Amino acid sequence: MSIFKFPFFKKKQTNKIEHEINHTINLPEHIAIIMDGNGRWAKKRGLPRFAGHKEGMDNVKKIVQVANKHHIKILTLYAFSTENWKRPKKEVDYLMQLPKEFIHIYLPDLIKENVQIKTIGAFDLLPDHTKRAIEHAIDKTKDNDGLILNIALNYGSRHEIVQAIQHIAEDVQNKKYEIDAIDESVLSKYLFTSELKDPDLLIRTSGEKRLSNFLLWQSAYTEFWFTDVYWPDFNEDVFEQALIDYQNRKRRFGGL
Ligand code: FPP
Repeated sequence: MSIFKFPFFKKKQTNKIEHEINHTINLPEHIAIIMDGNGRWAKKRGLPRFAGHKEGMDNVKKIVQVANKHHIKILTLYAFSTENWKRPKKEVDYLMQLPKEFIHIYLPDLIKENVQIKTIGAFDLLPDHTKRAIEHAIDKTKDNDGLILNIALNYGSRHEIVQAIQHIAEDVQNKKYEIDAIDESVLSKYLFTSELKDPDLLIRTSGEKRLSNFLLWQSAYTEFWFTDVYWPDFNEDVFEQALIDYQNRKRRFGGL
């Protein structure tokens, strides 16, 4: 293995060896994160679940900065799934006002940091106040060309695939496509992620090891990385461990 496959090391004054990411090799362009463990983070501290979600929201901003620093192009964050409606109404209401709070607090910084905000999911079914906040942020950042912060809100992969099939069926009916012309690239165009490359790396925090209906189609060849750390504690160091691990993987996409 070439020495360039190894992360460089630098010595900190504390004598602690610290990894430094080598930006010239093999960085993931698109990272997707299942931000899990807010509730357990709060419980461990004797706090209500809301406190965990609030801390999780603040952590989104910190991790956006780290992703930016490492020139990641797309960060897709699972903020609310199509299954999360099953939670108590109070928690759902709180989660639905978080995007608004996030945008209210952090939009000026995100604009300055050249972040472009996008969203995936069943947008129409979100409460009006959530939609308005997101639309405002998308509009204010549409000319930025730095990191894409792609927030998955009311997102579920199975729903995404079903709606894609419905639209394809409509287009076949309207003679836009012959059935034989429907292939993987056509289906990809009907997904919410049509403008984004597939994730290179998918991270799930909090020790759970499942996809939970997140990017099922898009993650066919994604590298997975799991950590026991709860999302509010997922910091720069842990993020960099994931990046270094990714840099040392060999992706073969089914080839040799
Ligand atoms: C899963 O943890 C987390 C969620 C369902 C919500 C995630 C949302 C955020 C981190 C904030 C969103 C930020 C923006 C910008 C909209 P859990 O509640 O299931 O945790 P648990 O498994 O420990 O109970």
